[in-house]
Amino acid sequence: MTPVPATMTAIAIRAPGGPEVLVPEVRPRPAPGPGQILVKVAAAGVNRPDVAQRQGFYPPPPGAPDIPGLEIAGEVVACGEGVKRWKKGDQVCALVIGGGYAEYCLAHEGHTLPIPEGLSMAEAAAVPETFFTVWHNVFERGRLQKGETLLVHGGSSGIGTTAIQLAKNFGARVIVTAGSADKCEACRMLGADLAIDYKTQDFVALTKSATDGHGADLILDMVGGDYIERNYEAAAVEGRIVQIAFLRSPKATVNFSRIMLKRLTHTGSTLRSRSDADKAAIARAVEQHAWPLIAAGQVRPVMDKTFRLAEAAAAHARMESSQHIGKIVLTV
Ligand SMILES: NC(=O)c1ccc[n+]([C@@H]2O[C@H](COP(=O)([O-])OP(=O)(O)OC[C@H]3O[C@@H](n4cnc5c(N)ncnc54)[C@H](OP(=O)(O)O)[C@@H]3O)[C@@H](O)[C@H]2O)c1
Repeated sequence: MTPVPATMTAIAIRAPGGPEVLVPEVRPRPAPGPGQILVKVAAAGVNRPDVAQRQGFYPPPPGAPDIPGLEIAGEVVACGEGVKRWKKGDQVCALVIGGGYAEYCLAHEGHTLPIPEGLSMAEAAAVPETFFTVWHNVFERGRLQKGETLLVHGGSSGIGTTAIQLAKNFGARVIVTAGSADKCEACRMLGADLAIDYKTQDFVALTKSATDGHGADLILDMVGGDYIERNYEAAAVEGRIVQIAFLRSPKATVNFSRIMLKRLTHTGSTLRSRSDADKAAIARAVEQHAWPLIAAGQVRPVMDKTFRLAEAAAAHARMESSQHIGKIVLTV
């Protein structure tokens, strides 16, 4: 194996701003501390939170690198003290606290998983952030049960395309919203039972009519704003609403009476700020429940487009254009 260099190319955020502020820079290569591994990155997933970080709205948590990138796939090149599961040469993918847009990246041992059987490095890099988020929010927090109806907003997003596939595999009925006829078609091809073009159709009325008036048992929402009250309308009695982002607004004027009348639960979570132990527990659950489905070919990341690391700005521009369906990935 070639020696690990002392420096590396990484994508820095020159200043908060548009995609053009993402620039390649030479940085010191990080060294693994206790419980960490150093990964030679082959591919890094691009996620909406990276865009928010670049714009200056989502600062990295204390201790996280300023380099964006929340998920990677590659080869282990060094292990810190106490690392038990991994050794040099292992091919892995990982959820990371930042620093994924780089030639080398640190990962916590417990947030690292083997490359799922049958996936390329680029596909494997597209898995951790969305699978961890969907697993936790749909199945653990949202308690989705077989036979229930899940409504997913942003059905064609990285998160949405994962939620459709996992929920269908666990026997739920899936309704999605998306912003064009093409996106709706892509969601149906992935297994969605109903795809609603929210720009031309009313998701509350269609969710109700598709469920004979029952409504959605669980709603996974990344939109917020005026969707909050409309989600309460679209939800079933005893329905759960799980908030994972507020793409429209975190603020709204809402008539909360439906929470009492329908006995609704409105909750939410954000992955990056969770404790190492929480993320490790989610990693174990994802490996146990989702990895076999990937190996069996029943679930796969939906790949939109790959860009070279140095083209990170173009990758962000594509994400912000919202033309993409599924995941955007950088290859190194
Ligand atoms: N809480 C967590 O732990 C966590 C973890 C990861 C990601 N997230 C959040 O989950 C969301 C999806 O992430 P991603 O990486 O999958 O991003 P993505 O692929 O860019 O998806 C964003 C989706 O939202 C839709 N959208 C954008 N603005 C909208 C609006 N104003 N109204 C309705 N829909 C809108 C877009 O498609 P159309 O509008 O064209 O349908 C797009 O499909 C992001 O907001 C991200 O921050 C949260």
